[in-house]
Amino acid sequence: MLGDLQLAYLGVEVPDAAAFGDFLTDVVGLVPGDDPCTWRNDRKARRVVVTEGPSADATFVGFEAASPDAWTATVDRLEDAGYPLMHATEEQADARRVERLGFLEAPWGPRVEVAHGLAEAEQPFASPSVAGGFVTEGKGFGHVVFGTTAFEESHHFVTEGLGLRQTDWVETEIAAGIELEIRFYHCNPRHHSLALARAPFDLPQRLHHLMVEVADRDDVGYAFDRAWKAGCVIASGLGRHPNDEMFSFYVASPAGFQVEVGHGARLVTEGWDQNRRYDRISTWGHQPLQPAIA
Ligand SMILES: [Fe+2]
Repeated sequence: MLGDLQLAYLGVEVPDAAAFGDFLTDVVGLVPGDDPCTWRNDRKARRVVVTEGPSADATFVGFEAASPDAWTATVDRLEDAGYPLMHATEEQADARRVERLGFLEAPWGPRVEVAHGLAEAEQPFASPSVAGGFVTEGKGFGHVVFGTTAFEESHHFVTEGLGLRQTDWVETEIAAGIELEIRFYHCNPRHHSLALARAPFDLPQRLHHLMVEVADRDDVGYAFDRAWKAGCVIASGLGRHPNDEMFSFYVASPAGFQVEVGHGARLVTEGWDQNRRYDRISTWGHQPLQPAIA
């Protein structure tokens, strides 16, 4: 059922945790979570969990089931589809601040965790730089996009195992002879909580980007200004996607993978019947930018 799952949290390993944390706080506008090296964008205790290490990539991605029944249904569906989970110990679940937890390796690499009961933070959410806050209610933390050579196997895992549904897809020639194919998957009204790109070879980073959606359109502009002022690489300037209609830009994090800050994406409704191909990534914009040379 639409809304049974949400993207709950993302674990990343980065070479410089302090620089990455400063980026999440000062540029993206997240606030510290319940432990050092955790960050959040709403009332939940944590949404990003950072560890320091050489890989500069996602280490785990957590989906939260809306109810104990939805958690059991997701676990059963994964097992029926041939993807048995490890059931976490109480200590492992406590470490994630959740009540129930199962996990398994995703075909595209990082561990996928199926959780229920992600704890709330002790303090209410307020970001000093994102006055309007983030859009998460009923839609989860945001979305994540991975590249993988195990594209079809991952599609099976996501649709038949996790139970996400394909929203639509992009197939486009990004350069002469180079095709890009991305499939977008939803599990609640957010257009996609997960997307997978078909990679022609094993990529050094599987995580392409994570997206957070701000409630006020001007907060995209303020985030852009902070990224610009901080001298970050603006991987894609302001633009709009044709499928989710998100108005957004992409900034490279200190770990290389990107963060998309967006606003105004359209929603998926029950009985979605618009699973179709788009032949471009952007309606307009999303050009790579460089600060002007002084
Ligand atoms: Fe995105």
